[in-house]
Amino acid sequence: MLHTVLDGLLDRTVVAGYTRVGLAVREKFWPALDPDALAGSTVLVTGANSGIGKAIAAGVAGLGATVLLTVRDKARGEAARADILGAVPGADVRVERCDVSDLPGVRTFAADLVTRVPRLDAVIHNAGVMPPERTRTEQGHELSLATHVLGPVLLTELLLPSLATSPDPRVVLMSSGGMYTQRLPADDIEYTSGRYRGAVAYARSKRIQVALTPLLADRWATRSVMVAAMHPGWADTPGVATSLPAFRRLTGPALRTPEQAADTAIWLTATLPTPESGRFWHDRAVRPVHYLPSTRYSDAELQRVWHYCLGAVGLS
Ligand SMILES: NC(=O)c1ccc[n+]([C@@H]2O[C@H](COP(=O)([O-])OP(=O)(O)OC[C@H]3O[C@@H](n4cnc5c(N)ncnc54)[C@H](OP(=O)(O)O)[C@@H]3O)[C@@H](O)[C@H]2O)c1
Repeated sequence: MLHTVLDGLLDRTVVAGYTRVGLAVREKFWPALDPDALAGSTVLVTGANSGIGKAIAAGVAGLGATVLLTVRDKARGEAARADILGAVPGADVRVERCDVSDLPGVRTFAADLVTRVPRLDAVIHNAGVMPPERTRTEQGHELSLATHVLGPVLLTELLLPSLATSPDPRVVLMSSGGMYTQRLPADDIEYTSGRYRGAVAYARSKRIQVALTPLLADRWATRSVMVAAMHPGWADTPGVATSLPAFRRLTGPALRTPEQAADTAIWLTATLPTPESGRFWHDRAVRPVHYLPSTRYSDAELQRVWHYCLGAVGLS
């Protein structure tokens, strides 16, 4: 089929596929989502005050969901809520405060939320960071690992009682195409040795997200939770402007808008039938998890990372 061939070619070229060029070609073949697809649903989005997370929140609100706009700064959350209500009048958008890298804070937040929100239909782990320098959380974890992996695993686990009451619960992990450049850091999960580079820490933790996705899918299958990892392509967001100014200058107008980059997360949350659990997605299609032979890892390495992460958040 023409569109499958085109889609695969775009993916291999990286630049065309990840920019708005790839999206423009692919979206011609996409059926529209049901405008009421998420009516009656509650969706939690982390890092929802900015960039792609704010666009995801607006997108799921537009499909009828109640949105838990989960942010680490309440004032920035309220400002984002006002913007979303401007775009989606009458939407039910509630600001929640949680720093996902702070594990005791995640515990407190989740314990309270499950009492207030007995049914949760989706959690979209969008919060992301590219630390400019080696940064440890209060609990001693490397910041990008804590933000992209440890916090999301713990938060999801603690929200299972509310997710399990949904007829079709879904969890989305926002990874990055940058993960294709990195192996699983099984020998240095917390990036303690060697020269620290934020972009490497970021890509390693995004690789861990994708590697753990099938294991998380198995773990949470007993509660019928669909788990997906995805990457959004390249988008012009406050995060990119701050962390990757040279990249932004180079790619310029070819970058996606946050709304374009949000599409697959919204689709994974809303589409029927439910997407297959445990897979890695981009632009509404399953993607390979490796392009370079050098990034392949053994099952023993995967198990080491898995057990480290479970232990780090106090799970067995
Ligand atoms: N833009 C791209 O091209 C691109 C490409 C690949 C992947 N991604 C991924 O897409 C996601 C969104 O990125 P973006 O480009 O939209 O970046 P962004 O504009 O910087 O947004 C990141 C959001 O995450 C929040 N956040 C960071 N650390 C947090 C924490 N510990 N707890 C709670 N919230 C936290 C930020 O809150 P504050 O405002 O309080 O800092 C902000 O709302 C990230 O996971 C990123 O890795 C983006």
